[in-house]
Amino acid sequence: MFVTHDRGFLRALATRIIEIDRGQVTSWPGDYDNYLRRREERLHAEAQENARFDRLLAQEEVWIRQGIKARRTRNEGRVTALKAMRRERAARRGLTGTVKMEAASAQASGKKVIEMTGVSQAFGDQVLLRDASATLLRGDKVGIIGPNGSGKSTLLKILLGELQPDAGTVALGTNLKIAYFDQHRSQLDDTRNALENVAGGRDFVEINGSRKHVVGYLQDFLFSPERARAPITRLSGGERNRLLLARLFAQPSNLLVMDEPTNDLDVETLELLEELLLDYPGTLLLVSHDRDFLDNVVTSTLVLEGDGRLGDYVGGYSDWLRQRPAPPCDHAPRHSDQASGPTTRGGGALPRARS
Ligand SMILES: Nc1ncnc2c1ncn2[C@@H]1O[C@H](COP(=O)(O)OP(=O)(O)OP(=O)(O)O)[C@@H](O)[C@H]1O
Ligand SMILES: [Mg+2]
Repeated sequence: MFVTHDRGFLRALATRIIEIDRGQVTSWPGDYDNYLRRREERLHAEAQENARFDRLLAQEEVWIRQGIKARRTRNEGRVTALKAMRRERAARRGLTGTVKMEAASAQASGKKVIEMTGVSQAFGDQVLLRDASATLLRGDKVGIIGPNGSGKSTLLKILLGELQPDAGTVALGTNLKIAYFDQHRSQLDDTRNALENVAGGRDFVEINGSRKHVVGYLQDFLFSPERARAPITRLSGGERNRLLLARLFAQPSNLLVMDEPTNDLDVETLELLEELLLDYPGTLLLVSHDRDFLDNVVTSTLVLEGDGRLGDYVGGYSDWLRQRPAPPCDHAPRHSDQASGPTTRGGGALPRARS
């Protein structure tokens, strides 16, 4: 049993889908595509049923408003039924809304955004970067990929000047306004509510020249006014992430740095984030393990290739798969050595064999 927003993962694995929608739990046998089809049919039927109900309710509301004479003779059963219909209508819940996102952009930065030259970085005997260089120009949308622990977050810190590398230099361009989404979500203050976290006590945020009340702004990110005033410690993973996005996009920026922003986001929010990033006029540095997301957003990719190498490729994840050097095949011979066991065992050259 697993919980995920990852469409590819769901398609490949799920044989049954349990959905939670507006307080109802429904089990759908079959795969994800079957679920999407059946759900579409159900929503359609639901919309038709709601329309029929609303027509009937409207008729009854006209009836009960008729003159004194009609009221004197009116049927108590019909009145009770109408009251029940009103309650049912009031309790009907719409589908959960979708997030509206807009990023505050600052004036353009200089043409050269970041220039990193000959950077090396190691922790103990683990070499993350060896004599690595990269240039970021205004408007570039750069993805950073590599396995867990390969140094992506460290590279971001070096590029931003937060971490002084063991060797090499990083020059930041002029007029940079950086908005940084960190992987550990440490920028949220758990002692403050959502409003304070996003606007720091101000009532208004400024999004691209227009002032917006912070309560309304947070509603765009699906936080109701009550939710926005409640402590944030009870927020779900996805809600926390949405709040961080709201905070990030309220800061005017021309360099957006995001370290794994897609974790816990549902499919609709993810697609909106993709659109926002595509329209973002500034420069983007994006660490993500989500292949579709990278393919849809970035125009070039930096790859931590191991042993301190930093590769620079045009395009997104799939483009990198096509361009990358053939993976070293040092595993294959080792396996065949094991398969042909007698030669290694018979050789007696291994220390273990000797003891
Ligand atoms: N300040 C530090 N001191 C010692 N080791 C560190 C420090 N910062 C990071 N490391 C180590 O450097 C390696 C790279 O860490 P980093 O956080 O950059 O990886 P990452 O590529 O972002 O991984 P992930 O995909 O899991 O986010 C890790 O093995 C980490 O333990
Ligand atoms: Mg990281």
